[in-house]
Amino acid sequence: MIHAFIFSPSGTTAKVAKIFINYLGAETKTHDLTLEESGNINLSAESDVAVFAMPVYAGRIPALAAKRLQTVTGNGQKAVVIVVYGNRDYDDALVELGDIVAARGFKVIAAGTFIAQHCIFPKVATGRPDADDEKILSAFADSVSQKIAGEGLLDLNAIKGNRPYKKAAGVPLHPNVDKQKCNSCGKCATQCPTRAIDLKNPTLTDGKKCMMCCRCINVCPNEARYLGGMLYKIAGWKFVKDNSRRLEPEWFV
Ligand SMILES: Cc1cc2nc3c(=O)[nH]c(=O)nc-3n(C[C@H](O)[C@H](O)[C@H](O)COP(=O)(O)O)c2cc1C
Repeated sequence: MIHAFIFSPSGTTAKVAKIFINYLGAETKTHDLTLEESGNINLSAESDVAVFAMPVYAGRIPALAAKRLQTVTGNGQKAVVIVVYGNRDYDDALVELGDIVAARGFKVIAAGTFIAQHCIFPKVATGRPDADDEKILSAFADSVSQKIAGEGLLDLNAIKGNRPYKKAAGVPLHPNVDKQKCNSCGKCATQCPTRAIDLKNPTLTDGKKCMMCCRCINVCPNEARYLGGMLYKIAGWKFVKDNSRRLEPEWFV
């Protein structure tokens, strides 16, 4: 049985993980850590395999995802770690995820990085993962299947990235609310991973809690939440200019 542990506020990490797992072709149980902890999962069957898929935030694993991973325990099961990023760089995120998963009791056998449309600047990596990414996910799954059947761990020092990890950083932007369009349905508040949005008055967002994951923008049925303003426009112009070259997935087995 494959146990997939996924944190995916805007859905692309989940999409990449789903394609990969479909190619692995084994029975799977998905544990979505986006909105809540796993409920202290302790994998006991030796034959279980775990897949961990997380997005990259400022070159790291989102702090909330790292915290939620502390509720998952392995007992020597094989694990695959995957990070998904928005075509800028994954920096130290893959190393960090590998370290966390190993410290939680898993044997990391493979690691991969994949590119998806940037959730803050969707003009970057638009439409990814695409058909070419899917071919690479299929080849990665073939390679992982062989590793699952065989022996051998991944040398965590062979993964690209540095220790100590780069300093975690936030994004100085938050979604705006169009008060004319918001009908206070509260979907954004219930779907917010950090509970930053006031359930009774969803036009209020706690900027200290908001991690800019953009989930509220994606789930709003009235398109009342959006990114805009001068800072966003200027930052976006530079970001798109600097990050429009196509990066390709990488993997380590
Ligand atoms: C706060 C924040 C920081 C991000 N930092 C990076 C980054 O350092 N490098 C990068 O390439 N993409 C970065 N991204 C883009 C995400 O990694 C990318 O959109 C990813 O696909 C989001 O995954 P999800 O759809 O599962 O939430 C960042 C996104 C957010 C919200």
